[in-house]
Amino acid sequence: MHLPDFQGLKLSSVPLSQFTTWHIGGPADWFVEPQSLRDLEILINSLRDQNISWFLLGNGSNILFSDSGFRGVIIHLGDGFHNIQFTDSIVIAGAGAQLNLLTKLAADKGFTGIEGLAGIPGTIGGAAFTNAGAYDQSFLSRCIEIQGLCEKKGFKTITDIRPGYRSGGFPDDFIITGLHLSLTPGDSDRIHQLMNQYLERRRSTQPLSKASAGCTFKNPDNSGAGRLIDELGFKGFKNGRAMISEKHANFVINSGGASASEIIKLIGHVRSKVSETCGVELELEVLIIDENGNRIDPEGTIR
Ligand code: EPU
Repeated sequence: MHLPDFQGLKLSSVPLSQFTTWHIGGPADWFVEPQSLRDLEILINSLRDQNISWFLLGNGSNILFSDSGFRGVIIHLGDGFHNIQFTDSIVIAGAGAQLNLLTKLAADKGFTGIEGLAGIPGTIGGAAFTNAGAYDQSFLSRCIEIQGLCEKKGFKTITDIRPGYRSGGFPDDFIITGLHLSLTPGDSDRIHQLMNQYLERRRSTQPLSKASAGCTFKNPDNSGAGRLIDELGFKGFKNGRAMISEKHANFVINSGGASASEIIKLIGHVRSKVSETCGVELELEVLIIDENGNRIDPEGTIR
């Protein structure tokens, strides 16, 4: 593999456990941080021409990499993608900036619409790609323009955004580089107050101090994944060092040194018990990525 010449960090053989909130994942061949759109374009074109796998990683807060890591290049957007700029109620933001910084700035400046998302540990690009949501607010409902780079089609601006539940509807080879949001003017003190209430609710119902990737499964129609798993008595259930949270049954905790295989086996077990007992097929919210960059389900099947 030959990495092209571009500005930014290039590290070889890096354990992915360093970059995920589950603290799990074997070594990636390369971990790189392009600093600008130009760097990113040079990199993607070169990897495409060499037929090398790549994966765009945000905060690693919704992902499980394999114990064997990743045979290819993990791309993390560098400082040139971290801008957040307000012009009245329109926000122009880089995909690499933190969602939590954006929710705080919006509250400080007196703009409402995303305060319910405070506390979600993702980047702005990650929030858009997965249509992050909480407390009846969703990120893409406020996005009016998404800019990105498509491996096959080059730079693209999307204004016809079609969000789903925890899905942005973007192709897998699309890298979100920046976006525009439209927020609603409001009272800064009131927005801060609401934001603090949401954060408190989150703290009291979710195991935020433990290593996890947030909710493991999407909520099925007319039901809650956490409630179903809880009703089957799974809270505290363990497979090795992987454990169903005692606080919220849709969170899987790495209680210290868990492997990806332990987590996957636990997720698969819970899913099949819910299917057998309740007749509900839970769909994964977290991404499980194998060493070749395929998105897989807990049985190892490529999705
Ligand atoms: N519940 C249980 N047992 C549990 C967990 C929940 O009985 O172990 C019950 C609760 O008592 C409540 C209901 O299930 O009556 C819903 O629980 P909660 O309010 O915690 O919300 P949720 O549906 O489990 C969703 C999102 C969260 C988001 C919260 C708040 C999904 C899969 N999860 O959780 O998102 O923070 O609402 O809006 O949509 C995430 O996406 O990673 C995530 C954590």
